[in-house]
Amino acid sequence: MAVKDFVGRDIISIHDFTKKDIIDVLETAKRMETLSNMKLNRNMMNAKVMASLFFEPSTRTRLSFESSMNKLGGKVIGFSDGNISSTYKGESLKDTIKMVENYSDVIVIRHPIDGSARLAAEVSNVPVINAGDGSNQHPTQTLLDLYTIKKTFDQITDLKIGLIGDLKYGRTVHSLAYALALFKAKLVFISPEELKMPKYIINDIQKANPDVEIEEKNEVESVINDLDVLYATRIQRERFVDMTEYEKVKNAFRIEKKMLKNVKSNFKLMHPLPRINEISEDIDESKYALYFEQSANGIPIRQSLLALVTGRFG
Ligand code: CP
Repeated sequence: MAVKDFVGRDIISIHDFTKKDIIDVLETAKRMETLSNMKLNRNMMNAKVMASLFFEPSTRTRLSFESSMNKLGGKVIGFSDGNISSTYKGESLKDTIKMVENYSDVIVIRHPIDGSARLAAEVSNVPVINAGDGSNQHPTQTLLDLYTIKKTFDQITDLKIGLIGDLKYGRTVHSLAYALALFKAKLVFISPEELKMPKYIINDIQKANPDVEIEEKNEVESVINDLDVLYATRIQRERFVDMTEYEKVKNAFRIEKKMLKNVKSNFKLMHPLPRINEISEDIDESKYALYFEQSANGIPIRQSLLALVTGRFG
């Protein structure tokens, strides 16, 4: 594995990854899990500092990054609300990053504006990891999603994977669709008309992968029994400009237990979480629910990325 290729690298968009890069990260995560089980990585990030700059709310991404760093013996500085930083006084993102790079070895940023992580990376002399920028990209979520699929099915290629919900504003499904196409998964995009996968994303995917199979649907019932994975997302209320539009679509989909009666025996239901009402809670204890295991996989993936970009893996 070309571990050195990741040293000093920014993790901004899944577009920046080749298929081999993704495989390298997934293999590193597997090795990281083994090291964690053997308690052999507790000092891997010793004397390294991660700046955790969250200008938007988060539970899983922020806490799993911070936990990853702590478990590897590193230190964490930062904030979980932009309003308690000097941004509140009017400081620009550029100036904030120029300060924080002096205090840290790696910067993890979540920001409501598309492209903000790229801007941070252009300004920073230390690696920047995008923890979600607006409705654009969430590459570390995609890597943990792929890791979860690979761990569960031992493959990604040829699986039939449905993405359901807010495909217009959901950054997790944007990043994931690109990556799944690289692995030649068969894609089914399921959403109400108003929340369809943006045309430019479908065009980009088809241009990069001319033989990729993509179907679009506005209901799940006709396809659910053919799927290996159904990946649900919440409707992204915070991205709507007009709340009456949100009210119209907010309950567009809900996966009920009875809908899983004839699914494939190894079918899995995934969700990046938080869940609002997309998945009935009585599915949680079933063999189909993969979403809690999926969020737990944030630790080996984020540990791997932190160690790779700071040159501490290997
Ligand atoms: N999946 C995800 O990004 O969750 P958080 O918003 O809680 O970080």
